Amino acid sequence: MKRRSFLKDAAWVSVFASVAPVISSCSSLTANNKGPGPVAARLPFRDNGSFTLLQFTDTHYICDDPRSERALACVKEALEGVKPDFVIHTGDIVFGKPDLDSAREILMPLAESGIPWAVTLGNHDSEFGATREEMFSLIRSLPGCVNTPPKEGVYGCSNDVITLQGPNGTERAFYLFDSMDTVILRGMEEEHCYDYIRHSQLGWYKAHSEVLQADNGGQPVPALAFLHIPLREIERALWEAPNRFLVGNNFEEPCPSRVNSGLFGLFLERQDVQAIVTGHDHDCDYVLRGETGIYFIYGRFSGSDTVYNHLGRSGVSEEKISGCRVFRFRQGQAGFKTWVRLQGGEVQNELELM
Ligand SMILES: [Fe+2]
Repeated sequence: MKRRSFLKDAAWVSVFASVAPVISSCSSLTANNKGPGPVAARLPFRDNGSFTLLQFTDTHYICDDPRSERALACVKEALEGVKPDFVIHTGDIVFGKPDLDSAREILMPLAESGIPWAVTLGNHDSEFGATREEMFSLIRSLPGCVNTPPKEGVYGCSNDVITLQGPNGTERAFYLFDSMDTVILRGMEEEHCYDYIRHSQLGWYKAHSEVLQADNGGQPVPALAFLHIPLREIERALWEAPNRFLVGNNFEEPCPSRVNSGLFGLFLERQDVQAIVTGHDHDCDYVLRGETGIYFIYGRFSGSDTVYNHLGRSGVSEEKISGCRVFRFRQGQAGFKTWVRLQGGEVQNELELM
């Protein structure tokens, strides 16, 4: 079922069943003034100076559902084929009951791999019974997960920063933002609206960004931001896309929040985030350079037929093909490579970005 039509029915259930409890317990709208908090993990480059990050997104897994077999096979095959140094799942991990068992099962290949990994939750991950906190707690209990507990005063659960360490200090940061699910806006009670990144999350990111910059001799530490729901600014970047750099599949309009969170503007001020990496829109896997030079990057849909997916039109095969996105970093280099890897190993759209 197409996501928009599904949400027409599910949105209000989602708002009252999952968002409200999370706001009252593991998050608030108040900025945290106690400092940036811990870094979730400080990871090293390999001895050869490379670091490979694998991104899964939108597995929409339901255990014991034959429609999910392709998603589980995709995750297992990608881990074996890529042999990454770190894995990030950008959300919509599950898509039905039993939701906690489904999360455990689709994330088990990561847990058994010995590779460190982290998640940032999607809008569907807390709408099938478990609260967002319960889902995040279950995920954090699995081996290899580096996510830290929800931060007091910071909206959402899955906000974390992971750094990549070189011989002279931190060379790169990966910021994970919890883009939550849906929100009811005053005067728009009948309208569906995805949630947006709140000021407390901006404050949390800014504090980490400033500390990393100070520890880096005053220079911003190059970073990538990972979140499930794209930021609004991707829409303007797309309007200008015919004159700009866009590589990959673009079979669906972006579905960001209606609310401009201010996060993009803060990225510009901090001058560290090079790319905003998302999931959410299953029929897109493109890389788009916005007018400011910040890249908008979609992961490759890693799920299967529990939810809409039409990337089989991409010309490789009539068959629907799941996959993942890979990032490769090199010690001492500010740029990075990224490509889409299809299930089975075919590489598409390998790019070197600065
Ligand atoms: Fe999704």
